[in-house]
Amino acid sequence: MVNKKILLVEDESIEAMDIKRTLEFFGYDVPYVASGGEEAVEKATEINPDLILMDVVLKGNSDGIDVASKIKKLNIPVIYLTAHSEENIIQRAKLTEPYGYMTKPYDRAELKHTIELALYKNKIENELKESEYNLRLILDSTAEGIFGIDLDDLCTFCNASAVNLLGYDNPNELIGNNIHDLIHRSHQNETPYMGFKTGKRVYVEDEKFMRTDGTVFSAEYWSYPQIKNNEIIGAVITFTDITERKKAEIEIKNSLNEKEVLLREINHRVKNNLQIIASLLHLQADSIDDKYMVDILKESETRVKSMAIVHEKLYQSPNFNYINFKQYLEKLVYDILYTYGIKIGTIKVQLDIEDINLNIDTAIPLGLIINELITNTIKYAFPQNEGNITIQLKSLPENMEITIADNGIGLPKNIKLENPETLGLQLVQSLVNQLDGKLKLNNDNGTEFKITFKELKYKKRL
Ligand SMILES: Nc1ncnc2c1ncn2[C@@H]1O[C@H](COP(=O)(O)OP(=O)(O)OP(=O)(O)O)[C@@H](O)[C@H]1O
Ligand SMILES: [Mg+2]
Repeated sequence: MVNKKILLVEDESIEAMDIKRTLEFFGYDVPYVASGGEEAVEKATEINPDLILMDVVLKGNSDGIDVASKIKKLNIPVIYLTAHSEENIIQRAKLTEPYGYMTKPYDRAELKHTIELALYKNKIENELKESEYNLRLILDSTAEGIFGIDLDDLCTFCNASAVNLLGYDNPNELIGNNIHDLIHRSHQNETPYMGFKTGKRVYVEDEKFMRTDGTVFSAEYWSYPQIKNNEIIGAVITFTDITERKKAEIEIKNSLNEKEVLLREINHRVKNNLQIIASLLHLQADSIDDKYMVDILKESETRVKSMAIVHEKLYQSPNFNYINFKQYLEKLVYDILYTYGIKIGTIKVQLDIEDINLNIDTAIPLGLIINELITNTIKYAFPQNEGNITIQLKSLPENMEITIADNGIGLPKNIKLENPETLGLQLVQSLVNQLDGKLKLNNDNGTEFKITFKELKYKKRL
């Protein structure tokens, strides 16, 4: 370990020699002995010792007390060692905040202890100063405004951001101000930050803060109680200007609204266009006599319609991803019956549909499947044009199940469901595959198709 350096300031040369030896005996280095005031100032600056042992009366114009005040900023601990114990000298010396004042003749052990204590105290003080500096740096480098208030609601301290945000020129202008002049409230008693007086931490999302020029801005803030010896002595308020954030939020909201309107509009147009195609097919069917061709056109019409209804339900839906499948099916079935000119009461349809929302990727294929199966039933199951159709949709723990059944004549025996030859059932098979579902047929009493499927996860489109 390097020895501590002590600058000795003493004009009596013999005494100086004696003290120097004593100090060296204690293990300190004494690199210089100054006998005059000016010389002492110069050497203190040059050597930057760990401590100065200072006589009060010196050669030249300035005494030890003058020297101590001149080198105050060097932050070197000073111990006076002097023959003078007059009250007025001690009073003057006090102002220079010395680490000790010893009178001659001195006791060697006492001198040693005084020096040790001074060095230790100086070390602690330096550490404290450094930690204070670091804290101040953190406080001033944060973008949040921070200030303290006492129990009289007066500002006790503040950081640089608080000064800037509130429009002051320097901290001193802000310190001492009443918080009610900083946070705008018509009823001051209701101010949430007063919660600190009951030990509560308070967060306020949006409050009006006032600048010096009287203008107001929106800020969010925290108020933390400041506690000393178990008693609340004030609060620390930290706040952030949220003007820009609020502006951005409004912009995002507006832009989202615009997009929603646009999406609604697009779904509306898609639905209209599909509806036009369906109407064209309908018109065409009306204008020809060939029953086979009419059937083909009607089938195409209901296929297009089953998709048009999905888009119709989409633009009516609060979010644009899901449609209420119950409402969708009611409309779809009604439209198919209408297209085939089924009179009320002849073919009865019973719907038992859970109130389920399905996304578009699931709704479109499922709608097309149901369209095929219902159309078939209407066309083939009831030669007498009378019968019942039931459609049931329920969610099971793992997946969903839809049953489309009629009490008609049943599927012809030659139909190969796994590998059908006709377009309708081919479509059904391929759409069931698209849904990753399973198709089961029960031909015991009429025709019953059961499809289990899972809702398709929304596929991201590029
Ligand atoms: N519910 C039903 N009851 C009785 N027979 C049915 C039923 N569904 C289908 N069929 C019979 O199965 C056949 C195949 O049906 P599919 O839907 O594949 O063809 P399609 O209806 O004849 O023509 P399209 O390809 O235009 O649908 C039908 O022609 C019909 O004979
Ligand atoms: Mg068919």
